[in-house]
Amino acid sequence: MLNIDLTGKVALVTGGNSGLGEASVKALSSCDAKVAICHLPSQGESAMQVLDQLGRPKDEAICVPVDISSYSSVLAMFEVIDKAFSRVDILVNNAGIDGKRAELVDADITQWEEVVKVNLFGATYCAKQALARMKAQNSGTIINMTSVHEYIAWSGYSAYAVSKAGLSMLTKTLAQEAGGYNVRVLSVAPGAIKTQINKDVWSNPASLSDLDEKILLGRPGDAQEIGNVVAFLASPFASYITGTTVVVDGGMLDYPAFKHGG
Ligand code: BGC
Repeated sequence: MLNIDLTGKVALVTGGNSGLGEASVKALSSCDAKVAICHLPSQGESAMQVLDQLGRPKDEAICVPVDISSYSSVLAMFEVIDKAFSRVDILVNNAGIDGKRAELVDADITQWEEVVKVNLFGATYCAKQALARMKAQNSGTIINMTSVHEYIAWSGYSAYAVSKAGLSMLTKTLAQEAGGYNVRVLSVAPGAIKTQINKDVWSNPASLSDLDEKILLGRPGDAQEIGNVVAFLASPFASYITGTTVVVDGGMLDYPAFKHGG
């Protein structure tokens, strides 16, 4: 039996208070990793709820407020983590936003920039700090949450797609920089997973059936199906996987439209 045991490991999950971040926190915690649930300062309440659900002792799980789009805020977050745990073994760069749907000509440029600042710059700031610690430890794993939209163009969401494609290249480049230090860097690319970010789509029967047709398995994924993969990739069972993207999309990237002729 494969039993994922992350005892003694410290995992930091940005956006750990909801959606895929929450699922990642729960999966990592269930494998006994210590966890830092990093959350926007305005989302402390939901972070505390997730923390309570873990039922871990105070020195094994904490909540840390951060706005990852600000480098100084990221530095402050790592200070808290250093004090609490003195190491970082797993960084899940999960926090992200998709912005308001708008074609570029109509988009508010400040909102466009905000998406890239959070998804790409924010993940970069966290990776920089985590990598410094992991190189010194000679061990660690960074998991960047991208999306099928690191591959699939998405009209109305250019900032989101650009940020995810950029994050994928960050993964590959940092994996080169980190490999010699026994640090692995990976992307997980979820397809349509039922979370708040796409609730408008899956809670409406017409748009849900349109979405189902874009997925070979005919259904959106569950957040736990991403959390499971995150825990596996962070574990020694994935010790030879680095510099690549693991796609978890129910077959969205496999041209489902081609099920019916061509
Ligand atoms: C987006 C979701 C979308 C999915 C598939 C994800 O990255 O956040 O809103 O359903 O991609 O298009």
